[in-house]
Amino acid sequence: MQSPDSPRKVTVAVIPGDGIGAEVMEPALGILEEIGPRHGLEFAWQHHGWSCEHYTRTGRMMPADGIDQLAGADQILLGAVGFPGVPDHVSLWGLLIPIRRAFRQYVNLRPVRLLPGIECPLRLREGEDIDFVVVRENNEGEYSEVGGRVYRGTEDEIAVQESVFTRRGVTRVARYALDLASSRRGSLASATKSNGIVHTMPFWDEVVHEVAAGYPGVEVADYHIDALAAQFVRDPGRFDVVVASNLFGDILTDLGAAMVGSIGIAPSGNLNPEKEHPSMFEPVHGSAPDIAGRGVANPLGMIWTASMMLDHLGHPEAGAELLSAVTATLTSGVRTPDLGGSASTGEVAEAVLEHLRDAAQQDDAGPAGR
Ligand SMILES: NC(=O)c1ccc[n+]([C@@H]2O[C@H](COP(=O)([O-])OP(=O)(O)OC[C@H]3O[C@@H](n4cnc5c(N)ncnc54)[C@H](O)[C@@H]3O)[C@@H](O)[C@H]2O)c1
Repeated sequence: MQSPDSPRKVTVAVIPGDGIGAEVMEPALGILEEIGPRHGLEFAWQHHGWSCEHYTRTGRMMPADGIDQLAGADQILLGAVGFPGVPDHVSLWGLLIPIRRAFRQYVNLRPVRLLPGIECPLRLREGEDIDFVVVRENNEGEYSEVGGRVYRGTEDEIAVQESVFTRRGVTRVARYALDLASSRRGSLASATKSNGIVHTMPFWDEVVHEVAAGYPGVEVADYHIDALAAQFVRDPGRFDVVVASNLFGDILTDLGAAMVGSIGIAPSGNLNPEKEHPSMFEPVHGSAPDIAGRGVANPLGMIWTASMMLDHLGHPEAGAELLSAVTATLTSGVRTPDLGGSASTGEVAEAVLEHLRDAAQQDDAGPAGR
């Protein structure tokens, strides 16, 4: 519905990045420009060419004041970074991790949902569905800078990498996951490995259960990460919300994306739940150098990610409308090769736009027009 008020201006910092990151960003922006005005939103894009290519020219993934430049935006949209020849830890630690940490994006939200029209690679039981959300801790845990290497290049070489788990960090991510479970089917699975990792993981379990005591309506179960991975495959319908540390959540969500068809459709949001800082929305996939430049990247992960940004902006009806257009596109059979189709990135994006326009026309025509 058209808002009678003047549109809300939303400034979005746009970082297309490398490879297919840039290829899927452009159609997603076009789609947001189509849907925004119908929901009272006017987007202003703030483009940043920060990428591995930028790194090879300047020695930095982003300028020294990059975080300050982003701080003025309401939200951040990121395609993907990574390019052969630039070590992956450079792109991760030079761009993504500083943004996630500076803006306290401590929740990485990754829905795992089997959309209509997608063939599930798993054999599901009659009536079984896959629809759960992984809440990955995004600011600490196994991804830490604490550690080092000594006696480099000798037989005595040692590498030490510390994990960092704080009471504050585990409490806030557990609280987010429990709130989410309360608003869904009331079930939380917590990923642990307290049998093998004897300090941090028992601490994780303790804090999760302390917080859970305040949520009597949510059933909490701990799973060792190895068993949890097996249960994802054997019994995916049982999961509602899964909370996991940084590394465990990262691994589980690639598995989750594969379970529901393709990493090309998996969305994610790096959230600052308090909305004190911009959040960053990026698809789960990377820059896919193997298919970059061929125009066949699936744009639906980026588009679903844009729908999560609409939700976070406080416009869930716009987010739902966009996701419906994604679903309609999939059921109509317009698909990129990763989903067994032959459509190009542009053709899939155009199909989403057409479904949005059709839905808008029906809406404008009112009940008689439906
Ligand atoms: N958030 C990020 O920016 C991010 C995330 C993961 C990987 N990376 C980087 O991306 C580069 C490639 O990594 P990778 O190969 O491990 O992961 P990837 O996600 O880029 O690709 C894995 C496989 O999935 C396919 N794929 C991915 N996205 C697709 C899409 N939208 N449509 C169709 N097929 C798709 C690729 O062709 C490839 O075969 C590396 O440099 C890595 O560091 C970046």
